[in-house]
Amino acid sequence: MRLPFLFCKLGEMKPLMPSRRTLIVAAGASLLPPLLTAGPTLAAGLLATPSQTEGPFYPTAFPADMDNDLVQVRGQAAQAMGTVLHLEGRVLDLAGRPVEGALVEIWQCDAQGLYDHPRQPGRERRDSAFQGYGRMLAAADGRYSFRALKPVAYPGRTPHIHFKVATASGGLLTSQFYIAGEPGNERDGVFRDAVRDPRRRERIEMKLAPAPGLEAGALATTMDIVVG
Ligand SMILES: [Fe+2]
Repeated sequence: MRLPFLFCKLGEMKPLMPSRRTLIVAAGASLLPPLLTAGPTLAAGLLATPSQTEGPFYPTAFPADMDNDLVQVRGQAAQAMGTVLHLEGRVLDLAGRPVEGALVEIWQCDAQGLYDHPRQPGRERRDSAFQGYGRMLAAADGRYSFRALKPVAYPGRTPHIHFKVATASGGLLTSQFYIAGEPGNERDGVFRDAVRDPRRRERIEMKLAPAPGLEAGALATTMDIVVG
């Protein structure tokens, strides 16, 4: 996606006399309206990712290993149970510009539906090979990525991955991602509340696709996070 770059270039070129290159870029820009007018994109900018509850299971103590690979705990031979999900995307502002240096955190239950948290009944049975929480800083182009698990349901909730994004300018977004097409979504109160505006679905529904090129048996999804 090169839209932010194009915006920047067009902005820079405005004060200049029209050149052949300017005209070429302008002609290219005229091909963009589907991106600027359809889906969750508004004329004034991008639709923000909806804020959702943090829930009761944000870590009270961070694991020794809290990198962006939740499936492999440093120093352990075993890999976490469950289906690996490569979750990646960009942190963007409402104008579509990358938010460099944003701290992105995710946390989720293990393949049995158990969080690593004091309030989790049966915590002692959790998969100790699963990291459960990870964090990373968004790159200069806004990119983030996690090796996570395809989320599973637990009593009272449809499958989801929690996340938080803190920007250098003090912005904070707490929200959750879901699996597109999961029947339990429509019965989940947190999900339903988030999609009262149906345009928001695209911001929180993960479309999962096989990713054999990344890892055998793994899934992948791309989710941009738009912070207001
Ligand atoms: Fe949860």
